Amino acid sequence: METEIRALKTEKNAVIMAHNYQPMEIQALADVVGDSLELAVKAKETAADLIVVCGVRFMAETAKILNPDRKVVLPVEDAGCPLADFLTPDLILEAKEQYPDAAVVVYVNSTAESKALADITCTSANAVRVVASLPNDTILFGPDSNLAAYVQRELPEKTIIPLPPGGHCYVHMGFTLADVEAARKKGGTIVCHPECPPEIQEQADRIASTAGMIRAAAAGGDEPWWVFTEREMASRLRVLYPGRVFYENPEAVCADMKEISIADLHHALESEEHEVVLPPEVMDRARRAIERMITVGA
Ligand code: 13P
Ligand code: SF4
Repeated sequence: METEIRALKTEKNAVIMAHNYQPMEIQALADVVGDSLELAVKAKETAADLIVVCGVRFMAETAKILNPDRKVVLPVEDAGCPLADFLTPDLILEAKEQYPDAAVVVYVNSTAESKALADITCTSANAVRVVASLPNDTILFGPDSNLAAYVQRELPEKTIIPLPPGGHCYVHMGFTLADVEAARKKGGTIVCHPECPPEIQEQADRIASTAGMIRAAAAGGDEPWWVFTEREMASRLRVLYPGRVFYENPEAVCADMKEISIADLHHALESEEHEVVLPPEVMDRARRAIERMITVGA
């Protein structure tokens, strides 16, 4: 099936984009593998006619928003991100009424409708830089309250209001102080994603987005790493740095990220299902917020 996938890709001038949490067999077939920011930037640059996003819905929506004239497909229609569902347009509108002078920063793990109400979007790779770039003292930040806490810690001069207060990713909320203790007993470096709870962030040796983890690992060191994020990330790091030791938490699984199989990818290329379709006015407003983020950079 892999040979057919490669042939279909050439025939259709398609590009396959995969997130770092995708199963390794999908990553092996992808033209681009990266974090949310890298996928957004590459989606903006691609000349392909068909963009197949192996990830979750918000990633495919971002690719579509940046390429409204191209066909973007998500191989499995219901691959979503439960974190994205914490934030609704109504919540943003109510908060804006309450804090008229605040800027609205929406994490890319969100719906297109929420992005359309943002002043700017951010990813975990650039959240601090994005917030620092804004003149506003008060920032409405959603939907991840742990990433909001991380930004608040890095930028104490700002007032970050999480929207909603308890928005979280169940995969990253699964990391506990017992995991920290177990890692400390064995030794090595703990690297956590900023979606982990604040008490884990405080104990970790490093806090990084998935691309940040790859960059930090590239800088060297031979100590084992405890990778506190979705478990596939450790597999990705092992492929990139074969001589190094990376430990994952086998229970840290994003079920939605694991929905796409090789057969689904083949079917998506052949049938061009499931196309991402969004209202043009939502895309236009969301595009402004995403492009503003890309200008700020990583
Ligand atoms: P990154 O932007 O770090 O790849 O994270 C995306 C994500 O979904 C984290 O759970
Ligand atoms: Fe969403 Fe969490 Fe899965 Fe990332 S790991 S896609 S934040 S549910």
